[in-house]
Amino acid sequence: MPLLATFRTDRLIAERLRAGDLDDLCRMHRDPRVMATLGGIRSADETRRFLRDNLDHWDRCGYGLWMFRDRENGQFIGRGGLRNVHVGGSDEVELAYALRAECWGQGLATEMAKAILMVGFERLDLTEVVAFTLPTNWASRRVMEKVGFTFERDIVHAGLQHVLYRIANTVWKGCLEC
Ligand SMILES: CC(C)(COP(=O)(O)OP(=O)(O)OC[C@H]1O[C@@H](n2cnc3c(N)ncnc32)[C@H](O)[C@@H]1OP(=O)(O)O)[C@@H](O)C(=O)NCCC(=O)NCCS
Repeated sequence: MPLLATFRTDRLIAERLRAGDLDDLCRMHRDPRVMATLGGIRSADETRRFLRDNLDHWDRCGYGLWMFRDRENGQFIGRGGLRNVHVGGSDEVELAYALRAECWGQGLATEMAKAILMVGFERLDLTEVVAFTLPTNWASRRVMEKVGFTFERDIVHAGLQHVLYRIANTVWKGCLEC
């Protein structure tokens, strides 16, 4: 599977997650605004484990999370990518994204999500991608809908009610032609 270490969007540069990203992740993971929908704030040790698990994911699968930075000034914006997960009773590839709260409301998650789907479908030739979140995470649900996901069903994940969305490669290619 081809590794894609870096790619660009209109406003952002994505770089494959690295061990040196710990400080940016720790700052994001201690912000209660960001973590309210991601299981709560994480200690430095929990973030170290998160980083190690996601670096392992890259080694095992050839894809994973990218760190997104402002193309102009290099400022950290957020993390996003594709992860293999067991969710809703099946093995799936998940689109994940989280941005620093200061960067919300500018269409940046949508820009990240579109670019990640393009990598997933064009470069990795994935058949389908899912996304899931808490039912009340309206901003995330809106991002999913804007990039072409369709609501599939309610599920329980990590002991909590979630909504599961899905997009197929064929549907995504159709969206591009609209
Ligand atoms: C969810 C998240 C990624 C959205 O990032 P963002 O950069 O603000 O998203 P965008 O600007 O691309 O799009 C957000 C959309 O949601 C809409 N929105 C925001 N809050 C909303 C609300 N409470 N109700 C309904 N829609 C809302 C915005 O208006 C926008 O839609 P529009 O373009 O049609 O106006 C960001 O809030 C985040 O990082 N949250 C914490 C982590 C998280 O929950 N990640 C997702 C886990 S699945």
